[in-house]
Amino acid sequence: MGLETVLKFELYDLGYKKLAIDNGIISLEGTLDDVIELNLWLRTAGRVFIDVASFNAHTFDDLFDAVQSVDWSPWLNKTSKITIDSVSTKHSDLFSKSDIQAIVKKSIITSLQDRYGTKTIDETGAHVPIRIHALNNQFTLRLDTSGHGLNKRGYRTRFDAPLRETLAAAMLKLSRWAPSDALLDPCCGSGTILIEAAMMAKNIAPGLNQTFCSESWPMFSPTDWPNARQTATDAIIDTDYRIYGSDNNPDILKTARYNIKRAGLDGIFVETKCVSNIRSRFDQGKIISNPPYGIRLEDQGSTHKLYNQMGHQFNTHFKDWHYYILTADDDFETYFNKKATKKRKLFNGNIRCDLYQYF
Ligand SMILES: C[S@@+](CC[C@H](N)C(=O)[O-])C[C@H]1O[C@@H](n2cnc3c(N)ncnc32)[C@H](O)[C@@H]1O
Repeated sequence: MGLETVLKFELYDLGYKKLAIDNGIISLEGTLDDVIELNLWLRTAGRVFIDVASFNAHTFDDLFDAVQSVDWSPWLNKTSKITIDSVSTKHSDLFSKSDIQAIVKKSIITSLQDRYGTKTIDETGAHVPIRIHALNNQFTLRLDTSGHGLNKRGYRTRFDAPLRETLAAAMLKLSRWAPSDALLDPCCGSGTILIEAAMMAKNIAPGLNQTFCSESWPMFSPTDWPNARQTATDAIIDTDYRIYGSDNNPDILKTARYNIKRAGLDGIFVETKCVSNIRSRFDQGKIISNPPYGIRLEDQGSTHKLYNQMGHQFNTHFKDWHYYILTADDDFETYFNKKATKKRKLFNGNIRCDLYQYF
């Protein structure tokens, strides 16, 4: 949510020009190779779906018949493990999610039984998650080719106040951070912003170490995904960068160092430091950070004090730097003591935040 424009530009950069944007979903026409490329390379997308069918249905019989008339054979075979992962309905005659789920699954299984002349679909094979979306009686059936949120890059271990990897990547893109810019995150926690930046600098595909459920779907040959992974591996560049992080919690920095290592990165420097003591030897650069929000009333005093320290420190020692601060606290500018050049609404999970931009 809030990332459509960032994703749109990411898609343009990958060469996809004809895009339709609608309510959190960007659609494009593509090939199976594109499915692989998008899963491997998109930094700010949630998941990659294939729209397999779109039809009108007012009754359960309509729904059953429409699903039955879809040719499922390009996508599913006799052993596919089909799950209906989510159903959303708006302004539609059919609204019982469990009934819609059961009918669609039954209809797909019947269609496969007819197609393969078998009485059983044993569901021991590749997992195919399906999403159903209905709006004004218009149903869309989508195959989830990712199988998990694309934010799960595989480098992160458990952490209590994480920033989604996709959102960290979006913050870097919105700040127009370039690998030649010095970067500092003075509340770096487990290091997500730093790691995403280094991955961008080195042109590491964010999906390189992920496994996607569609990799073993029948329409891909066994070499399709490994070849694309090899191409992505060959595209990694060896480059230097100036990426720094600090945090006042030394334990979290252990996690950050561990995650940096798991991501296969080096040259990111992190140290224990309170915001009130941060310095840099560079005259210019970008501070990109998500400090604590203080959602609970009892925490607000300490976060406001922190914003105040940030404002003072940035204005004194980082005069010619640009700052991009993500927080859900509406009073940020007051305590930071400076009005943002620009604000942008973003969501961290379900929490509505603003990216306060000073440039
Ligand atoms: C919301 S978390 C940041 C999460 C981080 N982006 C990540 O990817 O894990 C906020 C961080 O600010 C740190 N912090 C709080 N007060 C601080 C201070 N005065 N100086 C430096 N860091 C501070 C916390 O320890 C915490 O790690």
